[in-house]
Amino acid sequence: MAEERALAMVTCTAPVNIAVIKYWGKRDNDLILPINSSLSVTLHQDQLKTTTTAAASRDFTEDRLWLNGEEANVGHPRLQACLREVQRLARKRRGGSAKDVGPLSLSYKIHIATENNFPTAAGLASSAAGYACLVSALARLYGVEGELSEVARHGSGSACRSMLGGFVQWQRGERPDGRDSLALQVAPETHWPELRVLVMVVSGEKKPVGSTAGMQTSVDTSPLLKHRAEVVVPERLELMMRHIRERDFEGFGQLTMKDSNQFHATCLDTFPPIFYLNDTSRHIIALVHRFNTHHGRTKVAYTFDAGPNAVIFTLADTVAEFVEVVKRSFPPATNGDQFLRGLPVGSASLSEELLAAVVTEPVPGAVRYILHTQPGPGPQLLDDPSQHLLGADGLPRRST
Ligand code: DP6
Repeated sequence: MAEERALAMVTCTAPVNIAVIKYWGKRDNDLILPINSSLSVTLHQDQLKTTTTAAASRDFTEDRLWLNGEEANVGHPRLQACLREVQRLARKRRGGSAKDVGPLSLSYKIHIATENNFPTAAGLASSAAGYACLVSALARLYGVEGELSEVARHGSGSACRSMLGGFVQWQRGERPDGRDSLALQVAPETHWPELRVLVMVVSGEKKPVGSTAGMQTSVDTSPLLKHRAEVVVPERLELMMRHIRERDFEGFGQLTMKDSNQFHATCLDTFPPIFYLNDTSRHIIALVHRFNTHHGRTKVAYTFDAGPNAVIFTLADTVAEFVEVVKRSFPPATNGDQFLRGLPVGSASLSEELLAAVVTEPVPGAVRYILHTQPGPGPQLLDDPSQHLLGADGLPRRST
């Protein structure tokens, strides 16, 4: 029998993903099984990522959790579900014995510290990256390998898609136990090198209804959601995979916008209705359509999740021009916030015709900032011990 280690510590990072065919609605709330398959693009961790350190030690007296430096409730049911699942797989791997036979005792208490490199208040999907990161770190800690999207799904449905890079499908699956409700890579992040993403963080308040509660009300009340899951999504999923395979931006962009719009239509069809888009979201939608109409083809596409922030897809050769149009349409407030973040953006001069046709109703300050990023890889293991968020004593090294 291997000798037990007194302390083990692992740090991983994981990405955010943005769905282009949306997941909305569960057929099983406990196992987090969706009513339809979905498809997303994993965003690059150079711009948006969660980092999580997981440690287990003979000397820890209780399980503990820190989120962005603040101690948080480790008893959260979804976190506990992920922990239980990883430990179950670890036991299975160690020969089905409930006893501790591996290098790391499963009875040791654990400490977990997790941080985002983006403001949580910005309303960007942090739970997907968060649970993908937690599961990646725990799996490494206990030496569990292989299919882990099923485990991440227990944290948050969309988290299973953050377990892979590039273009990812979450297959709905058929089995009642959820064993076939998994994430699969459709294409790696290198497949479409020109694809770019602009996250437009809009000013304003927090989302009124969380995804979990919102989608439950939609399942209970929206006939449109039922039709969407049964008829629309299966067709769209095939079409979207073809557009991605062929790197057909017009097809990809149009379908992305239509699917976002249908998701928000199901929210309006929910009773009582749910509104995630605000006036700025609607201004961005109109702006994108004017821009595409002016160019006579789909050069940019928007998508919105359960909040007012827009995520824009475009190709590298269009970024500078579109960003300039956004600056003219939503003149940045001079509050010291850096307006352009992430990958560098070149300069562009706009023609008089473009300005006249596209920049029609400037709304100063409505967009707080734009983050420029691109598709990226799945979760990563950090080898450098100086990057652990916990010190040798198992306590957070620094608070943010
Ligand atoms: C609108 O994955 O946050 O972003 O499974 O209840 O945790 P739970 O919901 P969550 O829902 C995401 C909904 C969405 C669309 C999507 O990402 O596919």
